[in-house]
Amino acid sequence: MANKSVWSDNRFWQRTAAWVTGFAAVLLIWLTFDTSAQISMGTDADLKDGVTKRVPGPTVINYKITYEMSTKRGHEVPVIGEKEKFFGRDDWSEEEAAELLHLGKLGSQAKNCMDCHTLLGNGAYYAPDLTKAWLDPAWGPEGSLQAMTGKNTKEEAMAEFLQHPSQYPTHERMMPNLGITEKEAIGLVAFLKHMSSIDTNGFPRNFGKMQGAVHGK
Ligand code: HEC
Repeated sequence: MANKSVWSDNRFWQRTAAWVTGFAAVLLIWLTFDTSAQISMGTDADLKDGVTKRVPGPTVINYKITYEMSTKRGHEVPVIGEKEKFFGRDDWSEEEAAELLHLGKLGSQAKNCMDCHTLLGNGAYYAPDLTKAWLDPAWGPEGSLQAMTGKNTKEEAMAEFLQHPSQYPTHERMMPNLGITEKEAIGLVAFLKHMSSIDTNGFPRNFGKMQGAVHGK
């Protein structure tokens, strides 16, 4: 048995399996902690101090959000800029802003936006992806959607659309009226504005180029 090859040795395979399993377990534990740290939500203090977080705190609704090309990363990243009024105020407190986002999140679940849209990659492909809907220039000052609703701000235009979507058909497909109240609409717009500030590694791909959203147009 002197020239038995290592490849046919049971002990060799048992040890290899044990090492690979052990290494994979350690790697997964490390990745879990790394991811948790990266996706934990920032605070109001982070925003005031200019600390960049992948998921900014709820009070990001008090700031202007633009979408800028990062040559280093090869895709667009959300950039949080100057203060900007949201429904007339730029001083929503941490509690108030969190409450709005909560209302919007519950509304998005109750009215099942994901039945037709995608949010952060989850949902259906019947209607446009909503992850960066807030950054769609069509809602901006010179945008067709804002003009259509006759409102003067992005947030009011979106809230108006959400309450009466069937009055404003923009594509071949129309969004049906879902019985969204004014309060729910404000929450949903806050939810969408916050979502647009999340650094999603450029997802959905080419949104900026498609929508012309780069450099905050
Ligand atoms: C039954 C399918 C359906 C459901 C449910 C639905 N939508 Fe829509 N939505 C559409 C369609 C279709 C469009 C595109 C037509 C249009 O723009 O008029 C649209 C368009 C939109 C737009 C404009 C997108 C843009 O171009 O910027 C927003 C914002 C939006 N929906 C938000 C929501 C939210 C928030 C919910 C959940 C509360 C929701 N939708 C639920 C079908 C749906």
